[in-house]
Amino acid sequence: MLLSRLRLRFLSFLSLFASSFLTINALVCPPDQIQALIQLKNEFKSDGCNRSDYLNGAQCDNTTGAVTKIQLPSGCVTGVLKPNSSLFGFHHLRYLNLSHNNFTSSSLPSEFSNLNKLEVLSLASSSFTGQVPSSISNLIFLTHLNLSHNELCGSFPIVKNLTNLSFLDLSDNQFSGTIPSDLLATMPFLSHLNLKQNHLTGLLEVPNSSSSPSLKYLSLGLNQFEGNILMPISKLINLESLELKSLNTSYPLDLSIFSPLKALLILDVSKNRLLPASLSSESQIPLSLESLVLHHCDIIEFPNILKTLQNLHHVDISSNRIIGKVPEWLWKLPRIIIVNLVNNSFTGFEGSTEVLLNSSVQLLDFAYNSMTGALPIPPLNTVYLSAWNNSFTGNIPLQICNRSSLVVLDLSYNNLTGPIPPCLSNLKIVNLRKNSLEGSIPDTFYKGASTQTLDVGFNQLSGKLPRSLINCSFLKFLSVDNNRIEDKFPFWLKALPYLQVFTLRSNRFFGHLSPPDQGPLAFPELRILELSDNSFTGSLPPSFFVNWKASSLEINKDGRIYMGDYKNAYYIYEDTLDLQYKGLFMEQGKVLTSYSTIDFSGNKLEGQIPESIGLLKALIALNLSNNAFTGHIPLSLANVTELESLDLSRNKLSGEIPRELRSLSFLAYVSVAHNQLKGEIPQGPQFSGQAVSSFEGNVGLCGLPLQGSCFAPPTQQPEEEEEEEGVLNWKAVVIGYGPGLLFGLVIAHVLASYRTKWFVKIVGPDKHKEADPVRLFMSLDSRWDSFNNNNKKNVETESDLYK
Ligand SMILES: *[C@@H]1O[C@H](CO)[C@@H](O)[C@H](O)[C@H]1NC(C)=O
Ligand SMILES: *[C@@H]1O[C@H](CO)[C@@H](O)[C@H](O)[C@H]1NC(C)=O
Ligand SMILES: *[C@@H]1O[C@H](CO)[C@@H](O)[C@H](O)[C@H]1NC(C)=O
Ligand SMILES: *[C@@H]1O[C@H](CO)[C@@H](O)[C@H](O)[C@H]1NC(C)=O
Ligand SMILES: *[C@@H]1O[C@H](CO)[C@@H](O)[C@H](O)[C@H]1NC(C)=O
Ligand SMILES: *[C@@H]1O[C@H](CO)[C@@H](O)[C@H](O)[C@H]1NC(C)=O
Ligand SMILES: *[C@@H]1O[C@H](CO)[C@@H](O)[C@H](O)[C@H]1NC(C)=O
Ligand SMILES: *[C@@H]1O[C@H](CO)[C@@H](O)[C@H](O)[C@H]1NC(C)=O
Ligand SMILES: *[C@@H]1O[C@H](CO)[C@@H](O)[C@H](O)[C@H]1NC(C)=O
Ligand SMILES: *[C@@H]1O[C@H](CO)[C@@H](O)[C@H](O)[C@H]1NC(C)=O
Ligand SMILES: *[C@@H]1O[C@H](CO)[C@@H](O)[C@H](O)[C@H]1NC(C)=O
Ligand SMILES: *[C@@H]1O[C@H](CO)[C@@H](O)[C@H](O)[C@H]1NC(C)=O
Repeated sequence: MLLSRLRLRFLSFLSLFASSFLTINALVCPPDQIQALIQLKNEFKSDGCNRSDYLNGAQCDNTTGAVTKIQLPSGCVTGVLKPNSSLFGFHHLRYLNLSHNNFTSSSLPSEFSNLNKLEVLSLASSSFTGQVPSSISNLIFLTHLNLSHNELCGSFPIVKNLTNLSFLDLSDNQFSGTIPSDLLATMPFLSHLNLKQNHLTGLLEVPNSSSSPSLKYLSLGLNQFEGNILMPISKLINLESLELKSLNTSYPLDLSIFSPLKALLILDVSKNRLLPASLSSESQIPLSLESLVLHHCDIIEFPNILKTLQNLHHVDISSNRIIGKVPEWLWKLPRIIIVNLVNNSFTGFEGSTEVLLNSSVQLLDFAYNSMTGALPIPPLNTVYLSAWNNSFTGNIPLQICNRSSLVVLDLSYNNLTGPIPPCLSNLKIVNLRKNSLEGSIPDTFYKGASTQTLDVGFNQLSGKLPRSLINCSFLKFLSVDNNRIEDKFPFWLKALPYLQVFTLRSNRFFGHLSPPDQGPLAFPELRILELSDNSFTGSLPPSFFVNWKASSLEINKDGRIYMGDYKNAYYIYEDTLDLQYKGLFMEQGKVLTSYSTIDFSGNKLEGQIPESIGLLKALIALNLSNNAFTGHIPLSLANVTELESLDLSRNKLSGEIPRELRSLSFLAYVSVAHNQLKGEIPQGPQFSGQAVSSFEGNVGLCGLPLQGSCFAPPTQQPEEEEEEEGVLNWKAVVIGYGPGLLFGLVIAHVLASYRTKWFVKIVGPDKHKEADPVRLFMSLDSRWDSFNNNNKKNVETESDLYK
């Protein structure tokens, strides 16, 4: 289970410090300068932008005509930046921003020193490697230097002569060694210093100057600093934002050391051990604090110090070991807006179920705790409420019906009973999965409903699918699996223009799957359709799979784009889905936008498998097992080149297994057991590497992996193989052929799984055969880090709560 599925975002205050850069009076650049600019563009592959986009980013001096500003559009160019690049001929540049382009591991040419009029230089996130040339210290007019998010290494770059710097960002590189001792002394105007995520050691020396230091933003986390880095920091009395994640000190950190920082608004000390006394209400920390992040600090008692912070907007005490009840006073903090209590051992809330009612809190996440009893009534202005994975009982409070600002409601994995409130149209995301809710899904969705994700799987819902779902024209994700819904197949949902994922597995659906006109099913955007374990009957028309989305999707294995990732400044939610294919089980995996899966197993479908299945080139898993399909295995399956899992077992298929299927290089799992197939099993690793059980129950089949060759009478089959064998072989095959998408997903998912006691309880350890849970276990935090890294690009565009 991914804990990152839904979480409150740590708000960065970047935009607070966004400065207005130079104002250059731009006139149209003269033709020779345009020519020079075009020449620069031509040094690179620049499919990422067009000429006018590119030139829009340039400015020239209004008297001399010389280019003074180059701002490459993000993603514009790819290629090596050579020392003889025409870039270094623009001697009059004052502003150069090449960020978010791909300089394919170029090192930084020392020719940057030619650009000695530069005031702003940003090379962030541009795939630069190697050391920073010492000539950078010629750029004495620089006020803003951003080298973050590259692979730069070596010692702290020589920035000694850059006495006018006010922004210095070297974060997320491989710099090592110490910070120059006179860094702050030589940069009197420095207000923003970000050294996060390097390999720096030692300390940051802060001069004993009488004039107050100008530093307002300081980020030092994820380095190898020592504990005594803290003492000097307490002299930076104008600091507004301080980030010290994971200092790795040998002794617990005393927060009261920050008490002189009277202007501090944001403090992030995640992943540090804290001195318990410094969290008590007697301890002193800056009362100005608006945002306090104590994520993963090994805290066992509720930090009463919060009581003193009357300006607090945002508190994050997630992933600690706090037990007991959440104190009532927390909700009375006058300015509190965001509270993250995720992943502790809280047993509930102090006070009555109305304790939150008058709180100013708007985003509240208490997922992954041990809370029991009734759900508290949500605060009046709730935007986001997440209580998933607790043990709440009783009904969903009807008060959610008059919380008009509510957007996200996630109460999944609890023990809630009673009906679903008849007022979900307002919400974008509703997740009530794995409770014990009863009755039918309310038929109260109104026209223009906002609902994008509706997951009511694993409850005891009955009745029909509400026809008013048709009003949810933004619906992307609909999961009603594992209930008792009794209805015909909802062909009418075809009218939903964005529906991508639809699962109604394990219900009491019945009737035909073939559309009334016997044509294609073809929902406009549908790519994942899971119908297993219902009572669908009849045959599928030959054109059933024509015009499906899965025939036009581009599988994108690297740039994974997850579905339904609702991101904004305040929270992230990602749709998750159970995928159950033989040999694979992924509970609550994140759903990619680019693949397709189909599971019609366990119904009463008959007739031929439509030849049009071959059109679904993005299909990675197909399960038609346990039906009554007849005829041959369609040859066209050989065209489903991404297929990784194919289960046609327990049907009445006849003929031979098409030899052409040998071309399916990602095929990792195949079963055609219990049919009426004959002839030789196609010989190739995809087939011979499968378990014998994948072919048993077909009297006419011969060849590997079955005993006996096709040229002698087949001998008696051995007893049923252990399931385990299939999985092992399957892995071997996959490794031989390079992992496909589904396999990759499952492994990635298991890597990211956060195995609480709860996880084991619900899923059962035996379902995760595909990976060794001990070996592959990765902590929640590294998952979050990688998650954050994947979302780097979004960081800078985030809007800010405090604006
Ligand atoms: C250049 O691309 C931008 C979008 O990136 C587009 O808005 C603009 O119309 C394009 N201009 C030309 C001339 O193609
Ligand atoms: C040219 O720039 C100077 C300052 O750099 C400014 O004072 C002047 O008004 C500008 N002239 C025009 C025509 O924009
Ligand atoms: C540099 O360009 C990127 C877009 O590629 C933009 O997001 C960023 O704000 C710019 N930085 C500066 C300092 O202008
Ligand atoms: C830069 O040098 C390379 C060889 O290192 C050469 O191929 C290329 O033509 C030169 N480019 C320019 C613009 O002089
Ligand atoms: C940069 O481009 C290279 C070569 O085209 C490619 O291999 C690499 O993945 C790209 N890097 C990023 C971050 O896009
Ligand atoms: C530093 O900036 C000030 C004004 O902000 C300017 O007068 C001075 O010349 C600059 N010095 C250097 C070395 O850039
Ligand atoms: C810094 O500037 C001084 C003179 O302004 C110069 O002598 C020295 O070489 C420069 N240092 C570096 C590392 O460039
Ligand atoms: C700063 O002042 C403290 C005492 O106030 C002193 O111990 C320390 O040596 C001084 N540091 C520097 C770099 O002058
Ligand atoms: C943290 O400190 C321990 C020893 O105190 C060391 O073994 C470990 O490598 C350090 N971790 C990091 C990330 O610096
Ligand atoms: C939820 O309820 C079921 C039966 O109603 C019970 O077996 C189970 O233990 C409960 N789970 C929790 C976490 O309370
Ligand atoms: C497979 O695809 C090719 C090209 O798209 C097509 O010509 C061929 O008929 C298809 N084969 C089958 C068996 O459908
Ligand atoms: C440096 O660039 C990165 C990536 O664009 C951005 O996130 C960061 O805010 C920039 N730093 C500063 C100080 O502007």
